[in-house]
Order: sequence, then structure tokens, then C-alpha cells
Amino acid sequence: MRMVDLIEKKRDGKTLTKNEIDYIITNYTNNQIPDYQLSALLMAIFYQDMTDEEITNMTLAMANSGDVIDLTSLNGIKVDKHSTGGVGDTTTLILAPLVASVGVTVAKMSGRGLGYTGGTLDKLEAIPGFKIELSDEEFIRIVNESQVAVIGQSGNLAPADKKLYALRDVTATVDSIPLIASSIMSKKIAAGADAIVLDVTTGDGAFMKNIEDARRLAKTMTSIGKLANRQTIAVISDMSEPLGEAIGNSLEVVEAIETLQGNGPEDLIEMCYVLGSQMVVLAKKADSVEEARVMLQEALTSGKALEKFKEMIQNQGGDIRVVEKPELLLTARYQVELPAKSAGLVSKIVANELGIAAMMLGAGRKTKDDAIDHAVGLKLHKKIGDSVQEGESLLTIYSNTEDLSQVVELLYQNIEISDSAKKPILVHDIITE
Ligand code: URA
Ligand code: CA
Repeated sequence: MRMVDLIEKKRDGKTLTKNEIDYIITNYTNNQIPDYQLSALLMAIFYQDMTDEEITNMTLAMANSGDVIDLTSLNGIKVDKHSTGGVGDTTTLILAPLVASVGVTVAKMSGRGLGYTGGTLDKLEAIPGFKIELSDEEFIRIVNESQVAVIGQSGNLAPADKKLYALRDVTATVDSIPLIASSIMSKKIAAGADAIVLDVTTGDGAFMKNIEDARRLAKTMTSIGKLANRQTIAVISDMSEPLGEAIGNSLEVVEAIETLQGNGPEDLIEMCYVLGSQMVVLAKKADSVEEARVMLQEALTSGKALEKFKEMIQNQGGDIRVVEKPELLLTARYQVELPAKSAGLVSKIVANELGIAAMMLGAGRKTKDDAIDHAVGLKLHKKIGDSVQEGESLLTIYSNTEDLSQVVELLYQNIEISDSAKKPILVHDIITE
């Protein structure tokens, strides 16, 4: 087999066989196929798309390119959750302890942020001492004792995806349905959970800018899940404005604690209930999402979920004092308000651009190797649909640099105030196989 023939085949819109896909993934992972040939293939896939069968074959080849984790020694049905990416998406920090507090086993591998999207690992590391690397034995022991641990992707999990993702990032081939579906599902399958809840985001702050594309991505991933024997459900959620009020690592930990204390932003809490109740049902701890929601509401209001978060922080070496005193995490040198230039209704808050503003402050990475500043970010005081007076603060900027002129300009360009506003619908659809 010659790689150049396979590139030509895909370039001309033909279908690659399982053998051909296995050849490509195996040899690319082993450095036998160079980046420039893979780049050409990725661009051909971007334009010509793949059939469901090709996507499934690619996903399985990627999942089997490295370690496949065996979680069978853990008790119960293991449920994982994954988002296709968002801005200010604090849900995992809340969901992991919330769902675990009603008895679901959550053995979760999370990722880091890149570009304007945040990553759960970076947020957890904002908690002093929190370890995201545990040995397999420690991980399994903690989950068996406490039902929950959130760790980084182990070194050799889906190495094909690590190489491909880095290549896609620099060849303008990230936002492709077959490439996103295979990237996410290969990692989920290799990570060993029995059931998977996917949050497929749509809107300005997501890879899928419209609902039709999000629906196709969701359907593709749920059918791959089924073929791989993992029960998979996808929630299509809105990411046109940032989720919740906080964007930035420490700020989102504080937001998670406040939410677990019962004082969270409405949209963030609702997303946690929607995703969480699906997780509870998949784990067979409730017969319906309605019943699951009541269990989760009870866990939140009784403080049981917050206790679980404390336990999770303690188990992973973190400083639990932050739960009593979240303000310990707010160490940015400057806090600057952004006053509204006119009165009216907030009609637009462009999620990805606010994500970029947070990244410019140091909350995110431009490239994979950038260091990040956990303390900085944005805290919104207004969301779409809220009324605002002239001069009233739209948000607070948490910064460690004094010159904010560029950030302020970007923020003003991407927050609109007008006479009318339409609140976005939070959950567009739920896709099951
Ligand atoms: N998240 C992933 O893990 N992979 C993608 O391709 C996009 C989002
Ligand atoms: Ca948030």
C-alpha cells in the first residue's frame, strides 16, 4: 500500500477500506508516514467527508493505537462525560462530585484547554496541591472508595489522536465532523467507561456553528458508541454565550463551589441537571431522567454534593480550605470593571471572542506548550436578555497585567446592547441511538 494512492483516493471522494484506514493510523502512529502526507489526507477528509463506516473504522483504529484501559475491577457501571468544547464550561467540576454523590461511579479522564476553549485539568490545577496524575492503582483505589476521581489522559492513551490533534490544530482541519467524532470517541473508548454522555455544543463558542452540524456530529458519535458496545447519549447544547458567569481557571473553581453550595448561575445549574440526570440513568441509579433530576437536586441542596467535592479534592492532594474560603483562589493583582456604554438589553455575548479575551489575559494557551495563569479571567455580571444601565458593570476583568486596552477593546466589540434581546435556548436536542 502506498500512502500517496490513499490520499488520491480520498481526494477524489472515494471510500477508504478498513484495511487502508488501519494502515494509515498504525503507520502514522509509528512515525512511518510523515506529517505532510497526513496533512494532505486530513484536508481531503475535510472536503470529501467520510461515511459512517469509515468514521467507525478510523475511531477503532485510533482507540487501539495505544493503551486501552480496563476498568472492570471497578464496581458498578462506569459513566464518562465529554464536551466537544466550550467557553466557561464549568460543568465537569460540578458534575463529577454531584453525580458521584448519588452513587454513580465516575472514573474520568479530562483534557487541557487549547485556544479559546478551557480544559478541566487546568481548572483542577488551580486548586493548590491538586494532583491530576495518579498511578493506575491509586486511581482505581480512590474510585472504589469514594466513587470519583478526575485525572489526566494517561501517557499512551490513543496516541494516534494526540499526534493527529496537534497536526489538525496547525493545518486548519479541527472543525470537521468525521475528525472530531473519531478524536473524541477514540479517547472515550480507550478510557474504558461503560456508558458515555456527550455534550455537543453549538454556536459561536463551539466547533459546530449550527444545529444541523451539531446534530450530525451527535448522531455520528452515538452510533460509534453503539458499535463499540458503549451506551452513548448526546445532549446538543447552546454555546453562543459563555456558560455560567466565570471564564478562567480559578474563577471557574469558585463558580463550581458556589454552584455546589446552591448559588450557581441558572444556565450552568440547568446544564448540570440535564447532563447529570442522563449519567444517573445510564448508570441505572434511576429509572427516568425525572427521577434522576430529583435525586441530583436533593444532593445539591443537602450539601452532599459539596461534601463529595471536598472529598475528591482531599483524595487527590488538594487544599480543601478553598471550599470554605473560595476567595483564597482570587489572587489576581487587578480587578477592573467593564462599564456599559449605553442602557438597554444585552443582546449578544460572543462566546469564542470572550474566550480569546480570557486567553489574552493568560487564562488559556495559544500553543500547546504555553504556561497559563490560573488567577486571571472574566466574571460576567450580565448575560443575554439582562437589562443594563449606562455605566453599570458588564463584567469584571481579573488580570495580572495593568495594560488592558486590547482586551477591553475586544470585549466591547463582542458584547452588544440593544432594544431587544432573545435568550438562547440552552438544550436544543437529546440524541440517543
Ligand atoms: N475535542 C476533542 O477531543 N477532539 C476534537 O477533535 C475536538 C474536541
Ligand atoms: Ca462558567
